[in-house]
Amino acid sequence: MKINAIVLAAGKGTRMKSKYPKVIHKLLDKPMIMHVIANLKKANVSNIISVVGYQAELVKEVVKEESQYAYQNEQLGTGHAIMVVEELLKDQQGLTIVICGDTPLISSETIEALIEHHLHHKNSATILTGVLDDALQYGRIIRDENNNVKEIVEYKDADDTIKQIKEFNTGTYIFDNQILFNLINQLDNDNAQNEYYLTDIIAIMYQNKLKVDGCILNDLEETIGINDRKTLAYAQKIMQEKINDKLMANGVSIIDPASTYIGSDVTIGADTIIKANTHLYGPTSIGEDCLIGPNTEIVNSIILDNTTIIHSHVHDSTIKNNVKIGPYARLRQHCVIEDDVNIGNFVEFKKTVFGKRSKSAHLSYLGDSIVGNDVNIGCGSITVNYDGKAKHQTIIEDNVFVGCNSNLIAPIKIEANAVIAAGTTVTNDVPSESLAIGRVRQEIKNDFSTKFKPEDK
Ligand code: UD1
Ligand code: CA
Repeated sequence: MKINAIVLAAGKGTRMKSKYPKVIHKLLDKPMIMHVIANLKKANVSNIISVVGYQAELVKEVVKEESQYAYQNEQLGTGHAIMVVEELLKDQQGLTIVICGDTPLISSETIEALIEHHLHHKNSATILTGVLDDALQYGRIIRDENNNVKEIVEYKDADDTIKQIKEFNTGTYIFDNQILFNLINQLDNDNAQNEYYLTDIIAIMYQNKLKVDGCILNDLEETIGINDRKTLAYAQKIMQEKINDKLMANGVSIIDPASTYIGSDVTIGADTIIKANTHLYGPTSIGEDCLIGPNTEIVNSIILDNTTIIHSHVHDSTIKNNVKIGPYARLRQHCVIEDDVNIGNFVEFKKTVFGKRSKSAHLSYLGDSIVGNDVNIGCGSITVNYDGKAKHQTIIEDNVFVGCNSNLIAPIKIEANAVIAAGTTVTNDVPSESLAIGRVRQEIKNDFSTKFKPEDK
């Protein structure tokens, strides 16, 4: 069955005290609305429409790869937000989920359970509800004698008796799509906030003898709606714990979970150890038996098995097996590091392919380079890849030995088995098997110290 979703994200989020719309603030590495969209997709919801309004272009920019969008130019209420997607959805069959862009903890499992409950009970609408002794400012669920939901009353419109009701509306629902759009125009704004409340559609459905039910969510932490920075931090903590717990349950050691931040799209193999103050983000995958951290950041990268990365940054790169990186290395922009490589302290690679068993143990910069197997890059050697206007390539073939403190002025090619003498500035291509040496010849002045005397005092 086709399932659509409408993600409500037109509100300003005043309490964030931000110049940016609330839903694009991040939890871990992802804007909160993108967690909502990702969870919908995991639950096989295929057609997602985000309703954007306040700073619509910024929100659109964030969601546009993963969701359609519709504009709600004036925020006249959650019911009105549904009216603006009428053109996109009214002719569709199937079901439509409505969810808020600021509830990123509602899991894909909960969305699946809501769909399942709705189908199983043959409802026309199912509301995801929670139960709290004091249900705060949430809308209250009013049930009839058959336990069907007949109405939702907003807190601001509730009298004291209704405020006693413990079951509340989490703001997530599933509707029969045709029924939703047939009835949506019957809403009015005759209420305490003069808004078109989506919640009023429940009473309209009930009066039309359509079956509405609540599906009670037990894990109330999931319902947290983020309205301010404190709740944002709290929600992130919950998400961080859930992700870390799941990884640990699957055989990953996390030495200090509280200081380890792992995004929801990261995978890690068993027996890998993650040490403190480590941040792993983006679609990153790490293999088995790796040692990552402390103080390491890895973003959008693939790390294979048995690799060690300590005190280092790796962005947008691939690191294969048995590689040692760090401490204090930085790899960025599509580096590919082959098996059994050693990259030591204070080494930076940019857009560099580095062959099997090659080494760059200390204080080097390689940019725009292709390096073969079994190459040694001596301490302090660098590629001079930028001439002030353009970047140029360095090619170093297999088995080359680059002596310490060499400057390789690109574009340049050093062929297999060549040796670069320490301190050489290489300006011309170096043929295979040869030695390139280019440095000021050393002179010896004998008896220098006897002739050179500091001024007499
Ligand atoms: C809503 C529900 C309430 C429920 C609560 C759960 C209504 C009338 N009430 O109240 O029953 O307990 O959520 O959190 O629906 N939005 C738009 N356009 C608008 C208005 C809101 O896109 O015109 C978006 C907001 O950006 C937000 C979401 O809808 O993401 C919820 O709106 P909000 O005004 O916060 O509703 P609540 O008062 O929390
Ligand atoms: Ca809210």
